Amino acid sequence: MDITFLLNGETIALTNVLPTTTLLDWLREDRGLTGTKEGCNEGDCGACSVMITDENGSRALNGCILFLPQINGKHVTTVEGIAAPDGTLHPVQQTMIDHHGSQCGFCTPGFVVSMATAHLNGATDHDVQLAGNLCRCTGYAPIIRAAEAAKDAPVPEHLKNLSLHCSKNTAGGSGGLAPRSAQPKTSDDLAKWYAANPDATLIAGATDVGLWVTKHFRDLGAVAFLNQCTDLRGVTETDDEMRIGAMTTLTDVETGIAPHFPSFAAMIRRYGSVQVRNAATLGGNIANGSPIGDGPPALIALGATLHLRHGDTRRSLPLEDFFIAYGKQDRTPGEFVEAVSIPKQPDTLRCYKLSKRFDQDISAVCGCLNITRDGDTITAARLAYGGMAATPKRASAAEAAMVGQSFTQTTMHAAMAAMADDFQPLSDMRASAGYRLQSAQNMLLRYLHEATGTATNLMEISS
Ligand SMILES: Cc1cc2nc3c(=O)[nH]c(=O)nc-3n(C[C@H](O)[C@H](O)[C@H](O)COP(=O)(O)OP(=O)(O)OC[C@H]3O[C@@H](n4cnc5c(N)ncnc54)[C@H](O)[C@@H]3O)c2cc1C
Ligand code: FES
Ligand code: FES
Repeated sequence: MDITFLLNGETIALTNVLPTTTLLDWLREDRGLTGTKEGCNEGDCGACSVMITDENGSRALNGCILFLPQINGKHVTTVEGIAAPDGTLHPVQQTMIDHHGSQCGFCTPGFVVSMATAHLNGATDHDVQLAGNLCRCTGYAPIIRAAEAAKDAPVPEHLKNLSLHCSKNTAGGSGGLAPRSAQPKTSDDLAKWYAANPDATLIAGATDVGLWVTKHFRDLGAVAFLNQCTDLRGVTETDDEMRIGAMTTLTDVETGIAPHFPSFAAMIRRYGSVQVRNAATLGGNIANGSPIGDGPPALIALGATLHLRHGDTRRSLPLEDFFIAYGKQDRTPGEFVEAVSIPKQPDTLRCYKLSKRFDQDISAVCGCLNITRDGDTITAARLAYGGMAATPKRASAAEAAMVGQSFTQTTMHAAMAAMADDFQPLSDMRASAGYRLQSAQNMLLRYLHEATGTATNLMEISS
């Protein structure tokens, strides 16, 4: 596969690259740019953070789970490109020194890239912006102080308008539709290629697939990168529904969903880290069929419809029907996720994510509850959970116990008891079966308390 991109302002053209080469490996081993560090090699620590710029702006991504074709036609800024060409330090580099933000220094390049990207974007919610960067020795307070101290400094000239440089200098390599690896530019091209290569692995944000390579050393065989199918990206709205393209990143889902379902958006804020959300797509979060993915429970609670495509044939189904059993989804070889649509409705959704860490952690239980009332009577309930079964699943016995009943603690207790028939969760490293069931049941009480005016905002105890 041939690709072209800009690296700290310099045009790079690569021919015959192995499509599953990670940017981190290429930078360190082929290019000798060792400022970008390898910590976990699985998207968890941010030591490998790089700034990627395209027509949609600049964002921080983890280079360790970013394959080279994913940066085709884009601008990569590594820590070596953060200071000005004359050596003048970036404001965040200077404030890291001033505020003693670095001790052993291993995490520092990753922090500096994340901080410079946030600074460029005017993002001053430092706790959120830096949640994907781990530091083992300095401690976070001096680093946050450094980010705060730099926030009003002007963006250095050399980091302005990176996307203009990008489009002028790189049209993106051919990528092409070669038999074993493809980088289609439209969903029509993807549909044609995938129908002809149904055993291929689709690669969207690579926040799952990246680990198959870096941790499991899997040879993926034929692959198709979806990142240039821009027609699969974005949130569109009509009077009746919101449609979210499969290639929409979680960052963009969060923005698009926030005005309609703020609780869903607040949960996405706890999905991985900024770097993960900038890469991970909603289509990948559904297609991977994970029982602990955070997207599906919220979407199921909202009554979402999944749109699939195989060649020229399209079909749609309720999202909950897509998940058949552990590792088994209703998707035929050569068929891909095109979009998901959510019916417009009054916002009665509450999403509760329980995980061991507040930030950057996979859910032990994710409960998304959507309860409709007419006066005091419950007229409909969609209670969807992740982490409670082999697939994302509705608590249908609990739903049945509440529909037609009044919205009271007595009803919630009856539904909580009924929920024991819905789920037989597993015990694993994240939680015991008993904890899972009890906390899933308690979410009903939490919903009641919140809906009747008792504040239970987790964010209040997070900092
Ligand atoms: C550090 C870290 C933290 C994470 N935290 C969370 C979290 O908090 N919550 C959570 O839910 N997940 C989390 N994840 C998991 C991961 O981010 C999600 O599952 C993600 O949404 C996958 O999307 P992707 O675009 O990266 O998919 P990819 O890795 O590219 O693909 C995943 C799977 O879906 C298939 N696929 C992708 N797109 C399509 C499509 N359009 N049609 C058909 N098949 C497709 C791929 O072939 C592959 O089988 C985390 C991952 C990491 C590395
Ligand atoms: S090396 Fe840890 S996130 Fe990439
Ligand atoms: S300074 Fe040592 S890990 Fe952060």
